[in-house]
Amino acid sequence: MIIPKLASALAYGGDYNPEQWPESVWRDDAALMREAGVNLVTLGVFSWSRLQPAENSYTFDWLDRVMDLMAEHGIFVDLATGTASPPPWLSAHHPDVLAVDAIGAAYHVGSRQHYSPSSPTYRRFAAALVRQMAKRYGRHPALAAWHINNEFGCHVPECHGAATTTAFRTWLRAKYRTLAALNESWGTAFWSQGYGAWEQIQTPRRTPTFSNPTQQLDFRRFTSDAILDLLVMEKQILQAVTPDVPVTTNFMGFFKTVDARRWARELDFVSWDNYPDPLPGRGGACYGAAGHDLTRSLKKDRPFALMEQSTSGVSWRPVNGGKPPGLMRLWSLQALARGADAILFFQWRTSRYGAEKFLGGMVPHAPAARSRVFAEVKALGAELKRLAPVAGSRVKSRVAIVFDWAAWWAVEHEPATKPARIDYAGWAQELHAYFFRRNLAVDFIAPGEALGDYALVVAPALYLLTRADADNLSAYVRGGGHLLATYFSGIVDERDHVVTGGYPAWLRETLGLWVEEWFPLAPEETAAIRLAGRRTPLAGTHWREAVHLEGAEALATFHDDDFLHRRPAFTRHRFGTGLAYYLATKPDRTALELLLDEVVQAAGVQPPLAVPAGVEATLRASDRASFLFLLNHGPKAVRIALGERRGRDLLTSHACRQTLSLEAMGVAVIELTG
Ligand code: GAL
Repeated sequence: MIIPKLASALAYGGDYNPEQWPESVWRDDAALMREAGVNLVTLGVFSWSRLQPAENSYTFDWLDRVMDLMAEHGIFVDLATGTASPPPWLSAHHPDVLAVDAIGAAYHVGSRQHYSPSSPTYRRFAAALVRQMAKRYGRHPALAAWHINNEFGCHVPECHGAATTTAFRTWLRAKYRTLAALNESWGTAFWSQGYGAWEQIQTPRRTPTFSNPTQQLDFRRFTSDAILDLLVMEKQILQAVTPDVPVTTNFMGFFKTVDARRWARELDFVSWDNYPDPLPGRGGACYGAAGHDLTRSLKKDRPFALMEQSTSGVSWRPVNGGKPPGLMRLWSLQALARGADAILFFQWRTSRYGAEKFLGGMVPHAPAARSRVFAEVKALGAELKRLAPVAGSRVKSRVAIVFDWAAWWAVEHEPATKPARIDYAGWAQELHAYFFRRNLAVDFIAPGEALGDYALVVAPALYLLTRADADNLSAYVRGGGHLLATYFSGIVDERDHVVTGGYPAWLRETLGLWVEEWFPLAPEETAAIRLAGRRTPLAGTHWREAVHLEGAEALATFHDDDFLHRRPAFTRHRFGTGLAYYLATKPDRTALELLLDEVVQAAGVQPPLAVPAGVEATLRASDRASFLFLLNHGPKAVRIALGERRGRDLLTSHACRQTLSLEAMGVAVIELTG
């Protein structure tokens, strides 16, 4: 159980911001929450200015009353520490708390999250608030979890203020010890950047042209660490008072600023905020699936929480499409299907004012009793009670996609890949989308992780790869694993220095080839690829490489009228008892499906059930039971053949065998008996 106080229930609820409403509304809120089956709310995320209206005064009485009200109604609280948005008095009295951008301009009050993570003043005041919260509510019966800050790193991805510059230097001294080591690592011999004193070093501020890539990479690492330091600071304060109350913070899926994998080690359970675009054709289900899988992979041994989503539209997209009837339910149950034990929203009651007053909450502006949205919220709450047996069960994947923050930071800073920029997370998500369509469960993993559980590991554009991680991938293949590496992998080490002698140096032997040079394509260009045994050519996009085979065989070759004609585009190499594939271009969707189908088949990975296109099928299992989730994302009703699978649909209590019908947006959760 990720939240012990909820015992064997799934969590259901959302952010609750009662300070935006007169107290007379609170009782209605509690009653409506009961009606909707809410058992968990996140309180206090943006309450700092209400909790501490002036430097020396705290006002907790209102929050005391809300906490008591929740306890009285049997609703638990994921209590935020309130540190995400400092009150105006703090920056008025202490302007050094403000974050500063790369040009040197400060962020100001009037919005949210404008603080500098490295400001000692911010840290001091944040720590004091957390201490107060822990002391006051640590023993409150409603307290079930701590929600540290909120979406760390959102809006202000980096800071260049004085305190940050000092902290960056301290971080660099701890890492390099000597300036000589730093100069070597940063390659400062290039463009006359040699540093003679630590004080000369700056954060990568505005520069005339490309700034030093290793400096940028270290600054990214530093920034993730500096923000993480805030999380750890808060956590230590909380745990000293409430060692048994789990702590979390909400991640944002493929979010570049913070290395969520490193961060997850500090948390008792992981959570994320899922805002897919609900407009038709925008791939919302696929986006959600990837984010769920990434989040789940950060702590594989337990379920995760969907901390936020909207019931309908948001207020910050070019077109704020709404969720038609049924879609909120479908996407909520998708989170469950992919390993969540908590379905929460932003927010309980839709605000009347402020920047997000049209962002769909659980209680809309319309009267709750007559509202379509609230009716769906209630129905979902009732369904989650029926689905309680699923709580604690887990998704087990046989496929892994290597996804590494340092590789992401480094590759996207590399100027040489423009205009065909390597969209690192985008490419990983495109590959994930293939597995999503094929209903093959996927984890996102670090390149150095234990790989023994996986039948297939995919490493997209793993530009930065350490020797140890390359050895890990090689050992996996040697021992019988199947690896698919794609173009622009294994190019540089952890310092962003090229490993010379033919790319991808440390994977050459494993892949049975070497790459001499690359030829990125313009966005409007495609490359023709010929697959052995197939007449019609396939299309590659974005990238081509000049590959020399050294033991690998070409399964597909380039067929354009140029220098790369008949050179390998897709290869396979038997290495030890495993297989290593290499993709020297980015196939379009048709080509990708053909090539990956072959790789998947060789690896022997299979979906939990063969289902019609548009139906998502996943398995969650515990020691006691297995649950087959079937979700129809397609526009029409479908009939699904269950084969040998049989059991009982937890949503309808109907026995399921042989076939099952699902309406458009329909869901079945079958507790399997066979
Ligand atoms: C998240 C945030 C919430 C709310 C929500 C909707 O970024 O944590 O406070 O703003 O998005 O935009």
